Amino acid sequence: MMTLQQLYALAVQLGIQADPRGLASVKRQLKQARIDYNKLSAQEKPYFDQEYFTNPYSDSRILYSSSDTKPIKRAIAGIDCSESELLLADRLGKVDLAITHHPEGIALADLHSVMDVQVEMLSRVGVPIHIAESLLAQRIAEVNRGLQPINDHKTVDVARLLNISYMATHTITDNMVTTFIDELVKKNQKKLYYVGDVMDLLMTIPEYQIAKKLKSGPSIFIGHGKRRAGRIAVTEMTGGTNGAKEMFERLSNAGIGTVIGMHMREEYRKEAEKHHINVVIAGHVSSDSVGMNLMLDQFEQRGVEIIPLGGLIRVKRFKAKR
Ligand SMILES: [Fe+2]
Ligand SMILES: [Fe+2]
Repeated sequence: MMTLQQLYALAVQLGIQADPRGLASVKRQLKQARIDYNKLSAQEKPYFDQEYFTNPYSDSRILYSSSDTKPIKRAIAGIDCSESELLLADRLGKVDLAITHHPEGIALADLHSVMDVQVEMLSRVGVPIHIAESLLAQRIAEVNRGLQPINDHKTVDVARLLNISYMATHTITDNMVTTFIDELVKKNQKKLYYVGDVMDLLMTIPEYQIAKKLKSGPSIFIGHGKRRAGRIAVTEMTGGTNGAKEMFERLSNAGIGTVIGMHMREEYRKEAEKHHINVVIAGHVSSDSVGMNLMLDQFEQRGVEIIPLGGLIRVKRFKAKR
């Protein structure tokens, strides 16, 4: 049996293991957080979120803790797990923890900070790091301004009043699905000649099969099945939210022929099209589900009963012990 703190620590560890930047980069970020903190004045220190010493993901946090010692036996988990799901948990009864993928509270307010993950992720697929950083800086500032007016703590108030522990795991599980698909692509590299082959590969994943029955399966946003896929990159699945649309030109120049993403806004799609990149959209909620499932399997194997809701397509990848 695990406590909330233990589950949270495990989640952070899983996110780090799957981080597309690689471990050295994550360690550098954690170390830098301490250096930054130590440089702050006595007045500024109380405002620094010390979770940054051990957790590199600003959008993944414990939002409310009902107890430090109580073991977590039953949890609800959703892609969106907010007010209505918390109320439902109260009605279902005996729910110790609510886990949301899309962040709320302080995890939402600081979502933009995690977008820095994209800089090194893009440099790893061949975009020079100074270009990736410069293009993303503008977009991060824009996302930050967009988050300012949101009443991001109201859901946390519900968790507090119902006394249900509440946790957000956003980039943690987006890292997990990114690495999962990336490894699958690398393992099947030789078979992936056409864009259609990429689609076929995605369709081997149960979450996408279920999503297709629900009419939201993977689709080709740009290109078609008979186009040559070229070099494939999973660039649109983690790092907070959409990066900079100007990046498609850079990706194309870096030799990327096909990108796999969860979802894509029209203005981004047009930009990718302009620069001749094929785009395979795996699906939003289904891809978020793959990432959450990989983490929730670990929770379940440690004795936590998971009740899926809030759009989560729950698929288990382990055999339950009898
Ligand atoms: Fe996500
Ligand atoms: Fe999402």
